[in-house]
Amino acid sequence: MLKKFIDFLRKKILLIIFIGFVIGVFAAILSNKAIEATSTNESCEMCHVHPHVFESWKQSVHYDTRVGIHIGCVDCHLPPKGQNYLAEKIKASARDVYGLVFKDSADFNWEEKSTLEFAKHHVFQESCVGCHKNLFPLTLTKDGQNAHLYYTQKEKELLCINCHLHVGHYDPNALHAKNVSFGNTGNDNKEKYTAPATVTEFKDFSETIPNTTVSFEMKAIPGGSFKIGSPENEPLRKPDEGPQKR
Ligand code: HEC
Ligand code: HEC
Ligand code: HEC
Ligand code: HEC
Repeated sequence: MLKKFIDFLRKKILLIIFIGFVIGVFAAILSNKAIEATSTNESCEMCHVHPHVFESWKQSVHYDTRVGIHIGCVDCHLPPKGQNYLAEKIKASARDVYGLVFKDSADFNWEEKSTLEFAKHHVFQESCVGCHKNLFPLTLTKDGQNAHLYYTQKEKELLCINCHLHVGHYDPNALHAKNVSFGNTGNDNKEKYTAPATVTEFKDFSETIPNTTVSFEMKAIPGGSFKIGSPENEPLRKPDEGPQKR
């Protein structure tokens, strides 16, 4: 009698575990579907009907790309998958729904949300870097090379959007199509250097340019000799790359 009862219980428990498992799997699939469904450009457009968001995106460099792909809203406004994607997705969804339900749309200050200070919080540097792996592509202009060199020295202070604020939303009123201010907006308040750096020992130092706020890092490289030029048997060698010299 007791054994039968225990058998019955065991079956019940197994059944409950099984049902729980099935529900769990369905919930996971559904929530995954929900995440995908609420991450399409069309789903953003449901609420973000203001032309300065959608139309400006369609005029931006990330819509009409030379390679023919469109870069979508969440490609920039969420980090790449696996880098805090889920947490940021939940945060952003909560913000959007809360704003829609509890705030008066007349109070939204979209202009403020377009500023660098604000955009830092809803545009993800990891995403820019996730796609743009090579900062020195062949097509990069001289201005671009200088700017990116500067960026690589100031990677901790500068974001891509310091200089490329309008890459996601074309802005006809932007002062310059290309912002080459090097991200230094407060230049006037910065102290100007009066004299070049003095060098007394063999180590790296910051060179400063007198009468400007500009400095750059110098590397100490020990003396020696090396061969310049390409060896005769190197594949794809061009005649003007040799002869090798010491
Ligand atoms: C349910 C309506 C709704 C949907 C759908 C929606 N948003 Fe929003 N979004 C809002 C509202 C409302 C605000 C303003 C929130 C506020 O100011 O509190 C907002 C603000 C923003 C901001 C400004 C950042 C900030 O901190 O205020 C960004 C960026 C944004 N949404 C991107 C997106 C993207 C990308 C999608 C598509 C994946 C999307 N939104 C889908 C309603 C929505
Ligand atoms: C999902 C991948 C992806 C993401 C994310 C992305 N980009 Fe791009 N970006 C591209 C592609 C593709 C192009 C177009 C290249 C072309 O047309 O040849 C492009 C174009 C650009 C250009 C213009 C290049 C030109 O030739 O005028 C700039 C500047 C740029 N991206 C900066 C950024 C910044 C800053 C971010 C982060 C806010 C970012 N990108 C995010 C893929 C991406
Ligand atoms: C290439 C990256 C990129 C893409 C793609 C992108 N954005 Fe943005 N977005 C930005 C940046 C950078 C800003 C801040 C500067 C600005 O407003 O132009 C911004 C600002 C915003 C803002 C706040 C400012 C405003 O004008 O309302 C919203 C809302 C927004 N984006 C929604 C979207 C939606 C919706 C899409 C898809 C249709 C999208 N973004 C596509 C990078 C991007
Ligand atoms: C200090 C300012 C500055 C910063 C920071 C910066 N860029 Fe640029 N970038 C430029 C300038 C200037 C150009 C050249 C624009 C031109 O000549 O049209 C450029 C050009 C580009 C281009 C076009 C490349 C091509 O082949 O034409 C891409 C893509 C780009 N930047 C992506 C990025 C990304 C991604 C980051 C962040 C990792 C970044 N930039 C950080 C100033 C900057």
